[in-house]
Amino acid sequence: MSKYIIRGGAPLFGSVTVSGAKNAAVAIIPAAVITDAPCRIENVPDIADVAVFFNILRRMGAQVRDAGDGTYEIDASGISAPVATSGDMQKIRASYYLIGALLARFGRADVAMPGGCNFGAPRQIDLHIKGLSAMGASIDVKNGVITATTQGRLHGASVFLDAPSVGATINIMLAASTADGTTVIENAAREPHVVDLASFLSLMGAEIYGAGTNTIRIHGKNSLRGGSHSIITDQLEAGSFMAAAAATGGRIEINNVIPKHLECISGKLCEMGVSVWESGDSSVVVEGTEKLRSVDVTATPYPGFPTDMQPQASVLLCLADGTSTVTDNIFDTRFKYVDELLKMGASIKVAGRTAIVKGVSALTGAQLKAGDLRAGAALVIAGLCARGTTEIEGVHYIERGYENMIGKLRALGADITGVSDTAEAESTAV
Ligand code: UD1
Repeated sequence: MSKYIIRGGAPLFGSVTVSGAKNAAVAIIPAAVITDAPCRIENVPDIADVAVFFNILRRMGAQVRDAGDGTYEIDASGISAPVATSGDMQKIRASYYLIGALLARFGRADVAMPGGCNFGAPRQIDLHIKGLSAMGASIDVKNGVITATTQGRLHGASVFLDAPSVGATINIMLAASTADGTTVIENAAREPHVVDLASFLSLMGAEIYGAGTNTIRIHGKNSLRGGSHSIITDQLEAGSFMAAAAATGGRIEINNVIPKHLECISGKLCEMGVSVWESGDSSVVVEGTEKLRSVDVTATPYPGFPTDMQPQASVLLCLADGTSTVTDNIFDTRFKYVDELLKMGASIKVAGRTAIVKGVSALTGAQLKAGDLRAGAALVIAGLCARGTTEIEGVHYIERGYENMIGKLRALGADITGVSDTAEAESTAV
């Protein structure tokens, strides 16, 4: 799609099923490269980042078979050289997990620099390099290609991360899975997808302790075997639907979730006056309120409020009673979406890492441009609750990480239409 057209004002009602987690999928797919035995991965979300990753693997010589219903079989035995430099590498952030995975399998990786959402300042990879170097890798970055080499196997090491980087934690776990000896990651990221990757690597024969805490121990093995794994459901997709229900004053049931992963989001929504309750083991119900209350939101590493939900939270606070703050302690310049919300009549001032949001009585439809994935989701939510019509361009960002967002929203009663690249308006199937 090239743009979305939303006629706002319809409260969302009904139920929606959340897909597999993007950030887990893009860590688990490269893990399948560590072995030359086949792997089977279920609950893979149908999103652009996954399609790009599969293309990268195919170009490297792997076979990726779509077994239907979100299940894929990956056979990486055909990869003969640890080289991943195709143009697709720069389309996604997670392509850099091939550094850890190829080092683990071949003791060498030639990998193009990653792309991914641009929040305004360059996203560093120094912690990845520091961790892999401590394990014996020599790393050189030249002409946009990261070359990592080691003599023989990597060795276990003690790695303290200056910040609990998700990407660095995952890259080091991948590399350490076949290292000689034990690797200990201190100040490791605790996000759900780190734990999901640890589950998959364990099925492949790796020995990993402490995933989900800030100290992860990996006892390396000579090699890993194939494994079969079902990806966890997407905390951030669920959170985005929770925000959409709250923004429109609707009531929806969100199925196929892990309620524990949503506590950091539900807690804030409840503070705003939204009702959230669990329904069975894997569903939550979200019911909006007549008037949202102002709150202060601070994005911090898991189990704190996710940075990937702060743009959506800002939209809700645009409609709250009073003044709120949204502070991002992970990325210092993640507020480019604010300019778009201002076009809708929002009252927001950004001061450093904090957005000061003064509630207004309503947002008004406008012509908007999504600048990154979660900003795009936030603009969709803003369009759903705004008066009038909103047109959003740059929706390829949204499609990087949300499976069938239009279809799912339409099934909940939203008036949203996708316009295809050929400028022909189409209604996406519900
Ligand atoms: C991952 C998620 C992204 C999420 C982010 C924070 C994936 C594919 N992406 O991104 O959706 O927004 O976690 O939850 O899982 N940093 C450094 N040096 C490094 C690495 C990171 O300084 O080597 C800094 C970053 O600039 C940022 C902070 O650490 O300020 C957190 O980054 P990190 O957790 O690594 O995020 P990503 O893995 O890129």
